[in-house]
Amino acid sequence: MDPLRMADLSPRKKRPRQTGASMSSPSQDVKFQDLVIFILEKKMGRSRRAFLMELARRKGFRVESELSDSVTHIVAENNSDSDVLEWLQAQNIKASAQLELLDVCWLIECMGAGKPVEVTGKHQLVVRKDNSANANTEPQKTPLLAVKKISPYACQRRTTLNNCNQIFTDALEVLAENYEFRENEGSYLAFMRAASVLKSLPFTIISMKDTEDIPCLEDKVKYIIEEIIEDGECSEVKAVLNDERYQSFKLFTSVFGVGLKTAEKWFRMGFRTLSKIRSDKTLKFTQMQKAGFLYYEDLVSHVTREEAEAVSVLVKEAVWAFLPDAFVTMTGGFRRGKKTGHDVDFLITSPGITEEEDQPILLKVINLWERKGLLLYYDLVESTFEKLKLPSRKVDALDHFQKCFLIFKLHHQRVDSGKASQQEGKTWKAIRVDLVMCPYERRAFALLGWTGSRQFERDLRCYATHERKMALDNHALYDKTKRMFLKAESEEEIFAHLGLDYIEPWERNA
Ligand code: CTP
Ligand code: MN
Ligand code: MN
Repeated sequence: MDPLRMADLSPRKKRPRQTGASMSSPSQDVKFQDLVIFILEKKMGRSRRAFLMELARRKGFRVESELSDSVTHIVAENNSDSDVLEWLQAQNIKASAQLELLDVCWLIECMGAGKPVEVTGKHQLVVRKDNSANANTEPQKTPLLAVKKISPYACQRRTTLNNCNQIFTDALEVLAENYEFRENEGSYLAFMRAASVLKSLPFTIISMKDTEDIPCLEDKVKYIIEEIIEDGECSEVKAVLNDERYQSFKLFTSVFGVGLKTAEKWFRMGFRTLSKIRSDKTLKFTQMQKAGFLYYEDLVSHVTREEAEAVSVLVKEAVWAFLPDAFVTMTGGFRRGKKTGHDVDFLITSPGITEEEDQPILLKVINLWERKGLLLYYDLVESTFEKLKLPSRKVDALDHFQKCFLIFKLHHQRVDSGKASQQEGKTWKAIRVDLVMCPYERRAFALLGWTGSRQFERDLRCYATHERKMALDNHALYDKTKRMFLKAESEEEIFAHLGLDYIEPWERNA
């Protein structure tokens, strides 16, 4: 089936749905005997509770209507743990240490997975704080009614990694990616925008009513959300995941150096596996793709924070050998607090680096590493920077800084005899690293631009253009009304120029 038919939103047959008092009996087959769920009605409301109980039972979970000692998991919505503990106390029930007090997002994820998912921090009920001074903590769960109007711009939302709507955002991102593979940019952006806004919500969407005040949700997106709420999964996503073209593009573009054009070519030539492509004698590969195939296994396994820190030490050591006063900052996903990444990004600058001169530092670092045998691949891109150039109008434009995309040979720190290495005898891992060098006066713009996320950057630029008549990119901010460049020494100053509240890096996971 052609997944593009997804766009055709013909009315779907709805499964008859029981709600309210007409709950099915708890005698349905229980698949998961180990856990006994109780759903708290307080603040959730009777009909939602009934709906969730019915859905969970249909999926094979044991859900009790009454609270008893046998209950192992209490699920609540819009309650803090102290709310729940108070309520338990009022019922004369002592919460044992084994009793899990969970947010409804856990249950929703279980519904999506069709089985109990592991309880992690984001599922546990958050302790409600009165002061919001310390921003570097998990956000408190706020009932929908108390939420301020949600901005359509990611740069006016705080998006931590605590995603309460992963079941929806995963689905929307698969569909977005499929549109990207089909070069339907409009739909790609619409689905990415929708996923992004859902990631910023401090609550899990339970019913369509919850979506009423949320911007960026087009009808085709709401349709997907509705289906997931009702069935715990989305038929269109399933179709895409089974689609040969999607699977092939996903596989081919997982090779470093392979973009949409190459994936398209290989697909049209009839290739479906990487091994067939690798061993084909007629195909010509770029140096980048050759490296991509050579280190494929390492490059598709995510970079951990420990590995990123180890690379950081080596990058600093090498840069400081030539430029002792250089600032080396880890940017990208790791700066946003991600635990893993597809690469490690660094921004390098120093007060001595100006726009006028070409910088030899990256070249020196490359030469040093090459001599030490630490470089598996590199592509050094010279600066194309012009001082008075206006910021690009394109929201996804590439920048003009000198940079190096490389694959680093990271030797394991210590040989851990307890852990068997995946490949017998291999003592290193290939790690993708991006080094960017920028003039000192541009460091705030470069840092903001290279911290991401991509959606956050896109919306920052859109916001500057459409709401402020300014132009922003990785190098500069230009005020079109005043016809002048606005200088900034820090990210905070750029936000201030734009009239935006400051958003911390870990709140930019849009
Ligand atoms: N970026 C850019 N120009 C490029 C590449 C990246 O401005 N040529 C910016 C993007 O805004 C992006 C950030 O640098 O958000 C980091 O890029 P990337 O490493 O691709 O993404 P991450 O967010 O770090 O995600 P991951 O953890 O998968 O690496
Ligand atoms: Mn990155
Ligand atoms: Mn990168």
